[in-house]
Amino acid sequence: MMPNGYEMCWLDYKKHCDVDKNELSKWFSYICLFDPTDEFQVVKEELAIFVTDFLGFRPRFFKVFPKQGRHVLIGKLSDLPVEVNLDEQLSEEGFVLKYVKKQDAEFVIITGISAAGVLYGTFEFINRVRVGEDLRKLNVVSNPKIKLRFLNHWDNLDGTIERGYAGKSIFFSNNKILLNQRTKDYTRLIASIGINSVVINNVNVRHAALKLIEPAYLKRLSQLAQLFQRYGIKLFLSVSFASPIHLGGLDTADPLDERVKKWWKEKVKQIYDYIPNFGGFLIKADSEFNPGPHMYGRTQADGANMLAEALEPFGGLVIWRAFVYNCQQDWRDYKIDRAKAAYDIFKPLDGQFADNVAIQIKYGPMDFQIREPVSPLFGGMEKTNQILELQITQEYTGQQIHLCYLGTMWKEILDFDTFSKGNNSFVKRIIDGTLYGRKNNGIAGVANIGDDPNWTSHDLAQANLWTFGKLAWDPDEDVKKIVEEWIKLTFGDDELVVRNISYMLLNSREVYESYTTPFGLGWMVNPGHHYGPNPEGYEYSHWGTYHRANWEAIGVDRTSRGTGFTLQYHEPWRSIYDDIHKCPEELLLFFHRVPYNFKMKNGKTLLQNIYDLHFEGVEKVQEFIKLWDELEGKIDAVRFSRVKKKLQLQLEHAIEWRDVINTYFYRRTGIKDEKGRKIYP
Ligand code: GCU
Repeated sequence: MMPNGYEMCWLDYKKHCDVDKNELSKWFSYICLFDPTDEFQVVKEELAIFVTDFLGFRPRFFKVFPKQGRHVLIGKLSDLPVEVNLDEQLSEEGFVLKYVKKQDAEFVIITGISAAGVLYGTFEFINRVRVGEDLRKLNVVSNPKIKLRFLNHWDNLDGTIERGYAGKSIFFSNNKILLNQRTKDYTRLIASIGINSVVINNVNVRHAALKLIEPAYLKRLSQLAQLFQRYGIKLFLSVSFASPIHLGGLDTADPLDERVKKWWKEKVKQIYDYIPNFGGFLIKADSEFNPGPHMYGRTQADGANMLAEALEPFGGLVIWRAFVYNCQQDWRDYKIDRAKAAYDIFKPLDGQFADNVAIQIKYGPMDFQIREPVSPLFGGMEKTNQILELQITQEYTGQQIHLCYLGTMWKEILDFDTFSKGNNSFVKRIIDGTLYGRKNNGIAGVANIGDDPNWTSHDLAQANLWTFGKLAWDPDEDVKKIVEEWIKLTFGDDELVVRNISYMLLNSREVYESYTTPFGLGWMVNPGHHYGPNPEGYEYSHWGTYHRANWEAIGVDRTSRGTGFTLQYHEPWRSIYDDIHKCPEELLLFFHRVPYNFKMKNGKTLLQNIYDLHFEGVEKVQEFIKLWDELEGKIDAVRFSRVKKKLQLQLEHAIEWRDVINTYFYRRTGIKDEKGRKIYP
C-alpha cells in the first residue's frame, strides 16, 4: 500500500515487466518539452512520477533542442521543432507516438493537437515503456472513436454509494465535497484510460444533493472542475427535475411553464459563473419515484429540451436517461412488459430532441442483468444523440465479491448489429457517431470505485474499470489484448501470471452466469440489495420483473404472439427472436416461455441444462481457485491473499446459488437430475 493509504492500480509505476532499465534511462535523462503556453504541467508531473518511480531518478525538462543523443520530445504538433509525418488525421483529443531520427539525435515524440491529446499520449507512452515495447519501433496515431466517455458515480453526499461495493465515496463525506490527494489520484487514474466526462453524484438526487447546484456547493465544485480540466475532463452533475420547486420556491416544475424556464436559465447562468467549463446535467426523470415531465402531462422531449435551451448558450449538454418505466406494476397484469417501456416512450420522440441532448440508454431493456438482449432503442432512433449506459459496478454481477469480468459482455453489446441501416449497423457505430452522423454520442459506465485501498474491493475488478476506458476509446479493440495489457501493468509480465489471470477474467462472465441465472432469466436475486439467490424474490413485486415459473414452464413470452417486444427489433432479429428454434439459446428465457422438457441444441432438456450449468459453474470457480493458487509467490502477498479470500467467498456463494436454484426447479417440477447429483428434495 502507498504511504497515503491506497494503491494506484495500473498506475503503480513501481510495478513493472522485465525491461532493461539502464537502456531505458538513456531516453529519459533529457526530456525536451515545448510548452509555450504552459499547458503541460500535468504531463510533466506524470512523467516525473513515472521516471522517479520506475527508473529511480528525477527527470529534467529542457526547452533547447538537442543535436545528439536519445530523447523524449513532447509538445503540441504545431510547436514541435521537427516535422512529424502522419499516416492518419489527428482529432482534437488524439495523439501521436513516433520514433524519429535526426542526424545524430534520436527522439521518441509524444504529440497531439490539444493538451488533453498530449496527456493521453503520455499515459500510453508510459504504458508501452513499462511493458517493454521497442521505442525505436514506435509509430502510433490514436484518436478516440467515441466523443463522450463518461463515468457516472452514484455517490450520495453523506458518503454512501448507491450500488457501491468498494467502500465510501471519494467525492463526498458528511454532506461536504472532498478535495484531496486522492481526488487528484482518481483524476490521474481515469484520465489515463481516456475518460473525459464525469458525473460525481447519484442519479437519484435526494436530500443534500438537491442543493449541489447552489452557491454553497458551487464554489468548491469549481475547484474540482478545475482539477478535472487539467486532465481533460468535464464535470457534470445529476440534478432533480423538480429543482425549481425544491430550490426556487415555485409550485411547479412543468417544463413549459415560463417561470420554470426562467428559473433554469438563471440557475444555469449561475452555475457557469462558478464553473465556466461545466459539462451539463444528467437527469433521471419519471423513473423510480424521481420527478419528470410526465407529471405535468409533458413528454420526455419537452423536459429535456427545456433544460437544453438553458444550457445551450454555454455549450452545456443534457444527458437524459431512457430508464423510464412503470415501477408500480401489478404482477397479475400480463399485458405490461417492462422490457418494452423505453422504446415505447422514446421511439416516437425521435427527431424532437435538441442537438445538445443525448439519450442515455441502458444496454439492455431491463436493468443490467448478467445477460439481456441489446436494447432495441439502439437502432430505433436515427435522429437522436445516444449514449450507451453500462454498469461497471457489479450490482447484479456479483457485487465485487464474485469475479465477473465484464469486458466480454460489453464487447458483445458494442458489436451487436442492429440492422437499422442494413448490415453493419453496429451499436459501436451508433455511439461513435458514424452510423447516423450525430455529434453528441457517447458511452457511460456506472463506476465501481470507492475509498477502499485498492479502489474496487476485488483487485481483479480493476480490470473492468480499465476495460471500460479502453473500449470507450476504441470499441473495436480486442478484449484479450486489453486484458493482457492490464495484467502486465498491474501484476507484471510473468507468463503464468498473464496466462492464468487472462483465462480467469475472460471466462468469468459465463461462469457467473452459469451458476446464477442462465438463458436470459435474470432477477432471481434477493430484493433490495440484489445479492444472492432468491428465485421468487421479485416474482410478486411491483417492479415488473417476472419469470412466472410454474410446474411445466418458465419465462415470459415476449414474441409477437406474446407481449410483442420482439417487434421493436429490426429484421432479421425480429424473426430470429420470435422463433424458439432460432433464438440464441443464451437468451431463450428472455424471449420465450419454455417447457422444462424442451429439447435444446445439445440434445438435453432445458431443465437438465439448467442443472448441469449450475454444477459446472461451481466446478469452474474451483478451477479459478486452483489457477490463482498457482500464482502464489508470483504476486505480492497482500494482493494474492485479498483475491484468494474473494475467490473463497465466491465459491461459497456459488454453491449457495447452485443449490438454491437447482432445488427450486426440482421442487417445482419433480424432475430429477439425470446424473443423480445432490439436489435437495
Ligand atoms: C437500478 C438500481 C438502482 C438505480 C437504477 C437506475 O434499478 O438498482 O439503484 O437507481 O438502476 O439506474 O437509475
